[in-house]
Parts: sequence; C-alpha cells; structure tokens
Amino acid sequence: SPATEGEYVSKEQWGSRIGVILAVAGSAVGLGNFLRFPGQAAQNGGGAFLLPYFISLLVLGIPLCWAEWTMGRFAGLRGFHSAPGVFSVVCRTPKARYLSVFALLIPLVIYMYYIVIEAWCLSYAWSYLTGDLMLGADPDAYNAFFDNTVGAKADGHVFGRGSSLLIFIGITFILNFILIYRGVAGGIEKFCKIAIPLMVVCALCVLVRVLTLPSDKVVAGLGFMWNPQPEALLNPKTWLAASGQIFFSLSVGFGVIINYSSYLSKKDDVVLSGLTASSMNEFFEVCLGGLITLPAAFMFLGVSVATFSTFGLGFNALPNVFAQMPAGQFFGFLWFFMLFLAAITSSLSMLQPVLAFFEDGFNLERHASTAVLGIIALTGSFFVIYFSKELKALDTLDFWVGTVLIFVLAMIQAVIYGWVLGIDRGEREAHVGAHIRIPHFVQLLLKYVVPVYLGAIFIAFCYLNV
Ligand code: PHE
Repeated sequence: SPATEGEYVSKEQWGSRIGVILAVAGSAVGLGNFLRFPGQAAQNGGGAFLLPYFISLLVLGIPLCWAEWTMGRFAGLRGFHSAPGVFSVVCRTPKARYLSVFALLIPLVIYMYYIVIEAWCLSYAWSYLTGDLMLGADPDAYNAFFDNTVGAKADGHVFGRGSSLLIFIGITFILNFILIYRGVAGGIEKFCKIAIPLMVVCALCVLVRVLTLPSDKVVAGLGFMWNPQPEALLNPKTWLAASGQIFFSLSVGFGVIINYSSYLSKKDDVVLSGLTASSMNEFFEVCLGGLITLPAAFMFLGVSVATFSTFGLGFNALPNVFAQMPAGQFFGFLWFFMLFLAAITSSLSMLQPVLAFFEDGFNLERHASTAVLGIIALTGSFFVIYFSKELKALDTLDFWVGTVLIFVLAMIQAVIYGWVLGIDRGEREAHVGAHIRIPHFVQLLLKYVVPVYLGAIFIAFCYLNV
C-alpha cells in the first residue's frame, strides 16, 4: 500500500482484506472450538455454562478484540510487530515491554501442548483412512484406542515412547514451520484462504450427518447442552472458565491479534474485520462445536462426560457416532481432517508473535529466527510429552496457562487500552478506515467494566481456592 509521507511501511503486509480476516478467524477457530469448548461446558455446568459464556463474549471478548486490533495496527504503523514493541509504543515507555513477557510466553507454551493434540487429530484422520478406527458400537473400544494412540497408561507416560504418534508430531511440526517460514502473506494467509472454506464444508457435512441420526438420541444429546445445572453459576470457577474459554477461543488477550493486526495498513477497517472474525469463531464454536461434539458425547457417554479430560472428550465420543452411521469412515475422516486444519491455522498464530519478536528484538533474519524458534518449541513439546504422567496433566497446564495466565494478561491489556492509551485516543484510532462505528459505550466497558469484572472473578476464584 502506498505510504503517506513519513509513514512507516512494514516489510510484511497482508495480501488482502479477506485474507487477514481469514487469518485471524483461522487463529481463532481451532481445537478450542471443537474440543475445548464442549469439554469446558461439560465440566462446568453443562448448559449453565452458556450464560457466563455469552456474557463474557459480549462484555469482554468482543470489546477486547477491538482494543487489540486497534493497538496492533497503531503500533504496526510505527514499525512494531511484537508484543514488547507494541506495549512500549502504546504506553510510550520502553519499560512497558516487561509487561509483555506473558504475551510471548503464553502463545509459546500453548503451542507446546497444542501441537501434540494437533498431531492426535492427524493420527485419527489417518486411522479413519486406513479403517483402523471402525471398531463397532463399543464405547470401551474407543477409549482403549484413544489411550493407545496417545500412549496413556502404556508406560506411565502420556505418550508412550516410540509410539507412531511421534511420526505425526513430526509431520505436524514440519508443516507448521514451513508455513511460518514462508511469511505472513505467503504462508499463513495463503494457507488460511484454502483451509477455512474447506473446514466449513467438512464441518457442515458432519453436522448434517449427526443431526439426522435417530431423533431420540439427538434430542437426548442436545438436552444435555440445554438442561443447565444452575448450581454451577454460584461457583466462581465457572465464570473464570467461561471468560478463559472466550479469550482462548477468540485468541484474544495474549498478543496474537496484536501481532496479526500489526501487519495492517491505515486503510484497513479494524472494526468490521474484528467483528467478522469473532463472529466466524462463534459460529464454529456454538453452532458446530456445540452441536456436534457435545450432543454426540452425551449420547454415548452419558453424564460421565464431565470426567473426561478437556481435550480428550472429542476423541472418545465422536468415533462411536461415526461407527454407527452409514459412510461413517468417510465422515470420521472428514471430521478429524477438519480438526487438523483448524488446529494448524491456530498454531501458526502462536508462532508468528514469537517469530516477530526474534526478528524485531534481535534483528535476526527469518531463517535464523525460524530455526531458534523451532528448537525452543521442539524442546518444550518434548517436555510436555515426556513429563506429563497422565492426561490430566495437560488439563492442569491448560488451566494455568490457557485460562489463568490469559486472564491476567487480558486484564493488563484492558488497563493499557483504557487507561494508558486512553479511550478517546483508542476510539479515534479504531475508526481510521472503518466502515462501521463501535457504539461509544464499548469504550466505557473497556475502561471500567472489563477491569472490574475480571478483577472480581479473579479475587473470588483465588479466595475460594486457597
Ligand atoms: N483460538 C485457538 C482455538 O480456539 C487457540 C489459540 C490459542 C490460538 C493461542 C492462538 C493462540 O483453538
């Protein structure tokens, strides 16, 4: 894009408007939508989870998402793409970069376990192709298959050494790094432009298939989601989990959107793009993730769904459903292949902010920063793989990083936007190039309601858990 005088033009830019929306949507739509959301809902009150969930979406998720798009582009136009740079330029003091450590650490640590689950998906897709996963109507067989795939119980480690899973982890890793190496427009954007439409088609096929199963089963399954356990609403953990899920799912709160939007130009509409990307995410989460995984899980596992690990739910229940439908092998493949695509477009967005940090902060060339990042990520993943003694360890890691830390960083960002950048400035910046307006009360939400709301949940949670 042509720069006005004195304006910095970054060496990397998104190729098109639809491209950047798909890239952000790709980051948002991921395992969080199809596996984490149903898992969280099942563990936190079933249908009752939806109330705090939607409140968090409207009060926290979308407003913070706009704040991130705005701050990211603001800093990007001044030549900063990674969280330390963005925080210092928005706060106008280099000291602010210390606040941004989390914004680098969170995506990196999430990457370390996320990639493993991404590889499970690839491995399941493969097992459908080869027919290994057509085990008939026997829920125990699928539990055993899952334990076997991930290596649980084999030798006390989650992922048994030498299991074929390592091959899938290897393929997943390499694919991620090739795409990252190709750059924002040439790798991430190109891939998302193909992957997202493909995901929509696959997911809709599976949805239609699941909802046209014998109706008594479908109704019982859906009933679980819409029959709330209201007691759960009294537990602050439900509220913490709901807001954590919103942040995790929208990729809001931890430096991902800040980084992606820093490759935008002045003419880009951050308001509409942010809203579009978030809406796409909710469609995938509530309409597809919620209507496929959760009812299916309930149909076959009954109330015991709440005892499954967050990410494990989808691997135990859905294969039962596929086994009992015509052409189940084909639908099973579609589903897990779709999950794999969804996961890659997300894991790319966990790497890019860190890559940008190496490039900006240490002046490394792309191949050097990709290599350094690859070594760090690989080492981290191996720690996750070999030191998690049981599946619940992943849940614990996911709870502390994917819920609590994200929550803290989201709070920091809200304060930076509302109090340091200031909502007047923020509001002006957000509307540069915008076609629609953000209602003014959203700014007030960001300044007053978001920090208080987050603070209150956090204090209640700490108080009740210590
Ligand atoms: N939003 C992604 C999902 O729903 C997860 C994610 C986490 C993406 C961290 C980027 C960074 O699966």
